[in-house]
Amino acid sequence: MNDGLNAVYEELKRLRLEGMDRVFINDNTLEQLQPCANQSTTTASVAPAIDLQTAVNSGRVPSPPSPKAAPGKKSTPIDAPLPEPPIIEIPDGDAALRMQWLKEQIEASPVCQEQLRQNDKLVFGSGSINADIFYCGDAPGEEEADNGIPFQGKAGELLTKILSAMGLKRESVYMTNILKWRPKHNKPYGNRPPTQKEMNYCLPYLKAQIEIVQPKVIIGLGNATVPGLLGPAPERTMSEIRGTWQSFMGTPVIFTFQPSYLLFNDTMKTKRMAWEDMLKAMEKIGLPISEKQQAYFLPKQ
Ligand code: URA
Repeated sequence: MNDGLNAVYEELKRLRLEGMDRVFINDNTLEQLQPCANQSTTTASVAPAIDLQTAVNSGRVPSPPSPKAAPGKKSTPIDAPLPEPPIIEIPDGDAALRMQWLKEQIEASPVCQEQLRQNDKLVFGSGSINADIFYCGDAPGEEEADNGIPFQGKAGELLTKILSAMGLKRESVYMTNILKWRPKHNKPYGNRPPTQKEMNYCLPYLKAQIEIVQPKVIIGLGNATVPGLLGPAPERTMSEIRGTWQSFMGTPVIFTFQPSYLLFNDTMKTKRMAWEDMLKAMEKIGLPISEKQQAYFLPKQ
């Protein structure tokens, strides 16, 4: 390994010890990693706990092997066939009962259960069923699957901080993911983004959640949420549509960066871009915006 790569490896190891499981990888780092990405045997002997190829492909850094994971044991291939998406007809009733009914449907679904690793939990969603803002990530990661709650760990803490800067609490918004399980892959550790097939399968559940909450705005967090909600289209990428209003089920939706991306790409420019998306959402739902809030992450005069 050359010095640059060694430095990347050491840094990833350090971050992992701090509990990070996703990182932003810039283009230079990517270029440095490319030559070693296929040298799995060499890499494995030096760095058994870091799957660089997964990190490169997904922009997420694998988290450490957990005792429950069986190193070397293959899990279900990522393209395991899924049946047609379920048809969900939510019964009448109050929102809490309807949401509880939906949660029970997902928990009772053999298809969803089959996607879980041993000890993983399904991650349904959390927060207020009367929320104006509906945060939607792509899929749970390891910490989420451990707890059964979306947006945990450092990324979750950052999202809570962002909410606090907006004058909101976690409990006052609704949070979920398109996928209700942590995507399986062939490695004993790490996270991967969901496939379109997986997201399509879970979409009826997400739609039902939106129908119950009836938020005023949806905020899609992360690249995969764009094709996940709007359908795949080559020209419809996060960089193309970030910060613009789109529509999903007749509800305004804005797409922005994942909190984990912001943790590692923490330039003022990126923070400001993400913050402006939050300001747009606040404006859309009629939340007051102070001058101080307006100016967060702007260069000092
Ligand atoms: N945590 C989640 O629950 N979803 C994401 O998309 C990212 C982190």
